[in-house]
Amino acid sequence: MSKLLIRGARELRGEVRIHGAKNSTLPLMAASLVCGGKCYLHNCPSLSDVDTSERILRHLGCSVQRSGGEIVIDPLSTERCDIPDDLMREMRSSIIFLGAIVARMGKAVLSYPGGCELGPRPIDLHLSALRRMGVVIREDHGQLNCVVPDGLHGAVISLAFPSVGATENILIAAVVARGTTVINNAAREPEICDLADFLNSCGAKISGAGESTVTVEGVASISGCEHRVIPDRIAAATYLAAAAATGSALTVADVVPRHLEPIIPVFEESGCILRTDGDKMQILPPSRLRRVKSVRTMPYPGFPTDAQAPIMAMLCVADGTSIFVENIFESRYKHVGELLRLGANIKVEGRVAIVDGVEQLSGAPVEATDLRGGAALVVAGLAASGVTEIGGLNHLDRGYENLEGNLISLGADVTRT
Ligand code: UD1
Repeated sequence: MSKLLIRGARELRGEVRIHGAKNSTLPLMAASLVCGGKCYLHNCPSLSDVDTSERILRHLGCSVQRSGGEIVIDPLSTERCDIPDDLMREMRSSIIFLGAIVARMGKAVLSYPGGCELGPRPIDLHLSALRRMGVVIREDHGQLNCVVPDGLHGAVISLAFPSVGATENILIAAVVARGTTVINNAAREPEICDLADFLNSCGAKISGAGESTVTVEGVASISGCEHRVIPDRIAAATYLAAAAATGSALTVADVVPRHLEPIIPVFEESGCILRTDGDKMQILPPSRLRRVKSVRTMPYPGFPTDAQAPIMAMLCVADGTSIFVENIFESRYKHVGELLRLGANIKVEGRVAIVDGVEQLSGAPVEATDLRGGAALVVAGLAASGVTEIGGLNHLDRGYENLEGNLISLGADVTRT
């Protein structure tokens, strides 16, 4: 098993280009299934989750060509409606293919996603929404057997929670459903807007994406289109956290600064100065970070749960006590035990984590147990004295393209063994 060796406590410098958003690329790849022609997706990151999505599309019968950051998907040869269990297990978010498969094929067979590193991964909101749109779903022996006897139709769907994946599934199915769909309490994440922009470029009629109420007027069919994936705001947050933790002035390039607004107050409270210039953002950290009173994860435009772990790693070396409240996932503090090995001082009580900043972390062998928890270990390892050896790189490879290459170009001492 390969490991990442980080010799930390070095200043980083320079500029890092932020790759396309994983959480946009996956639903866009799923959405291409409902298109009537080729889809050209640009700025797609090279990540194992994107590989998994490619394998799902190929399994379904689509033709997929990848070259650099471009993915060309031709959905016309789609002939299957199932996702094998191993692919569902490899990527829990495979569930975002459900709406697309039923819309294209009129049926779908998927295994139940089950739990994951972040705790239980219920899909009740996805299923009840699709049921309202005419999908008949039988759940047995861990499988979801879905059929659409009378075709998809529009519906008024009020989500009990603004689930990102459920909003995506509904949007994708609704664009080619009969009649109008209204989603109340829809997720407002930038990735939802990216998906709506893509679908509208294909001829869909979606309005209100990015707001709490989204309306979709179903059309008979949509075409393919060319689309550039938005930058990955969580990757950007991770590099900014690494800069802050190591006291380094750094620039993240190719970002949409507006998408980073939910995390900016945390950096500013910790004493960092952030300067925006077009699609670049520069961070100038203080000589010692200050504590942040409270970081509460919330649906967008609140502070993103995906940035919680890397920012916690950064605040492990701040002066004073920072408090985190995780409101999105039940079990999202798995990185805490590993940060303790690096000398952090953190106590967890349920959804709350209390981080008492220490002056210096010290390198140790640690294990990534999930994607963003792994990113937290990288941030901490870059700040720590001595060598940090990080295992479980399969998690990091799900979400960070060329991580060690980027860090090396910024002056970090990182090797993958
Ligand atoms: C997406 C992101 C993930 C991010 C999360 C929250 C992708 C591929 N993944 O995940 O990186 O951390 O949004 O911003 O885009 N829930 C239910 N029932 C459901 C669906 C969700 O109870 O049917 C709950 C979940 O358990 C969780 C919360 O809602 O507690 C948020 O989940 P959701 O917004 O659906 O996240 P994902 O779309 O899975």
